[in-house]
Amino acid sequence: MNSKLVRGFLKEFEKYTSEVHFKKIASDSGRVLKLDGNENLFLNNNHINRIIRDSLNEIETNIYTDTLCQDLRESIGRHFHLPADYVMVGNGADGVIDTIVKTFLEPGVNAIVVEPTYSIYKFFIKIMGAVYRPALLEDDFSLTSEKIIELCDDKTKLIFLCSPNNPTGNQFNYDEIINLLEKSHSILVVDEAYAEFGNYSLIPALRKYQNLIVLKTMSKAYGLASLRAGYCLANPEIVEELLKVSPPYPVNIIAQKIIPKIFAQVKLILNAIKKIQVQRSRLVKQLNNITGVEAYPSDANFILFRITDKKLTGNIVHERLLKKGIILRNRGSLPKLENCLRVTVCPPMESEIFIEALKECMS
Ligand SMILES: Cc1ncc(COP(=O)(O)O)c(C=O)c1O
Repeated sequence: MNSKLVRGFLKEFEKYTSEVHFKKIASDSGRVLKLDGNENLFLNNNHINRIIRDSLNEIETNIYTDTLCQDLRESIGRHFHLPADYVMVGNGADGVIDTIVKTFLEPGVNAIVVEPTYSIYKFFIKIMGAVYRPALLEDDFSLTSEKIIELCDDKTKLIFLCSPNNPTGNQFNYDEIINLLEKSHSILVVDEAYAEFGNYSLIPALRKYQNLIVLKTMSKAYGLASLRAGYCLANPEIVEELLKVSPPYPVNIIAQKIIPKIFAQVKLILNAIKKIQVQRSRLVKQLNNITGVEAYPSDANFILFRITDKKLTGNIVHERLLKKGIILRNRGSLPKLENCLRVTVCPPMESEIFIEALKECMS
């Protein structure tokens, strides 16, 4: 291929990867414990699979569905007591982020990302040719909204804030976020992919703040990561613009049929969330009991911890765990996260295996 045909800036661009490519190395050890993806590991998969199998009977795969997934938008709206015109759906929350940046960004404008955070925002902003402007959290990972407001100018179209934040795990102070909404003239995208595990949601603030987009996913608390479905909730004027940019048929028919049924499984989901919260506290304590490890408090279904032992690094421990078949997310290259690893909260048995392996890797 003639490389001049490709957009010039892609020369310095790297494709987005997760730790899945480490699966091969891990599997050489004979077992794989995948704790890098923040999935819900506490749901009864038999129950979910039964719902999926039953739904398949209702599906005509040879016929196109509604382009805008109106039934699904209505179902999601009902779940949050909002009209369907507050809802836009996508191929995972990632698909929704893609549509948001395509709606608001172009060369010559900028978007602020509160860092360290989920790396997809930066990736999509750069693909649009817009300026990516990082705003750093404090050393204790708290948010100072005034610092972000100072970074805004008349070319700032979007601010991305993830709360609870991936990978630091903390949910930000509510009043700081409201201050940002009130003082900034940009659209604030609050990614609540993990809010079900936290203490509050900004969804009730949607009717008051016209510049708020709340981003949600079915991949985490609702356990449908590989089905690929996400959505955002926002003022109908924003949603109307997003719908102009959204690809047609953004969510597949299987996900469209299943999501309302999973929403109805309130007890099942809440039960799993409760178990995750209990196990999360135990795991933070167990991690902090290991010499040379410092774990941070979490409002999500994962925990960030730092290797503080001067004889080791996060990379070394990550590699050693991998050889024992345990895959974590290495976040050490992000600002303020030197030697930090992230682990998904998992059931007690897997937790024990992980903790024992980590102790061995630290010695
Ligand atoms: C903060 C955050 N937002 C969005 C996503 C993407 O979710 P989805 O699977 O719906 O694309 C993730 C996935 O890890 C995430 O951590």
